[in-house]
Amino acid sequence: MGKKVLIVILILLFGVTLFSFFFFLNKDDEKSIDELLLDKGYSDNEVALILSKVSENDYSDVLELGYDKSLINILSSAEYNENNFSNYIEYYMKNKDSNINDIITIVNSGYDLSNYPASSLLASLVKEKYYINDNVARYLDYGNSHNADVKKVIGMVNSKADLGFYSVSYDSNLNYNNLVLVNKFFHLKEDYIPSDLVSLGGQYNRGANSRMRKEAADALMKMVDAAKLDNIILYNASAFRTYDYQENLYNKYIQRDGQEAADKYSARPGYSEHQTGLCSDLNVIDDSFEGTDEANWLLYNAYKYGFILRFPKGKEDITGYKYEPWHYRYVGLEAAKIIHDDDITLEEYYAYYIEKN
Ligand code: DAL
Ligand code: ZN
Repeated sequence: MGKKVLIVILILLFGVTLFSFFFFLNKDDEKSIDELLLDKGYSDNEVALILSKVSENDYSDVLELGYDKSLINILSSAEYNENNFSNYIEYYMKNKDSNINDIITIVNSGYDLSNYPASSLLASLVKEKYYINDNVARYLDYGNSHNADVKKVIGMVNSKADLGFYSVSYDSNLNYNNLVLVNKFFHLKEDYIPSDLVSLGGQYNRGANSRMRKEAADALMKMVDAAKLDNIILYNASAFRTYDYQENLYNKYIQRDGQEAADKYSARPGYSEHQTGLCSDLNVIDDSFEGTDEANWLLYNAYKYGFILRFPKGKEDITGYKYEPWHYRYVGLEAAKIIHDDDITLEEYYAYYIEKN
């Protein structure tokens, strides 16, 4: 026996050891996915479900997860979407105690909400038409601290009402023309007077403030004419008001009722949309107008002429004003129909259709 033979034997032994090592190491790779899943503890039915609902690329995620009944619940949901598989698993791993359907809804929304805990509030928020992802933190704050339905949560935040009225103030953007927003967050400059004011006359007016912007005045006359065919007599009682006029009015109300009360029904100067020339107080400017045939006609028909009820009942927390059944605002046909049909305020329309874009 020479040294050479010994060396050959040693090399052979080393080779066999190395081979066996890799053979056993890779043995799992040779098992089929079915076998591997059965090894993890999934039943035959569960394996069949996994194979039918998870794409091959995601098998490694499933194996890494090990046996988890929640995986089966995710795959069994009617809302399950195979393309979102890895997002479900990632979000589920961070929210193991949350409701699986909430997790699925939140992931399916397509927004990156991975840093927000899964909750039924978040799941109901993302399903809402007027959900704006940039506002999600404020929705959650408001929703978790108020007993409000989800539509109200969205309305309060989109309108900025959650920040507190008059707490921040921006210049109204006049480029939006008929859709300019003037409220407790957006104001007009002291010297702003629209350049295209016309006077309403004859049967269309019974008030001292009879001017409106041309397009709004034309629409108002059309609406008054249409109402007349239904035996409803409408007329303007107060339309365009200057900054100075509003200032006198507001100060008069403060003296009579105090500022807190006045703020509920009167705008501060610069913050009244009467200064836009796009609105009209119709017929009777007091609560007795509510429920009249004229007020009801307007509720059903004004949007067909491009007008909206600007301060609706039930939306006081969003608009910042008590119900004004007489105050109609011209916004144009398209916006008026959406605002009417979706039962939203101009604030909510503006946040979603204008400000967001
Ligand atoms: N009454 C409405 C809110 C105004 O003063 O403009
Ligand atoms: Zn008004």
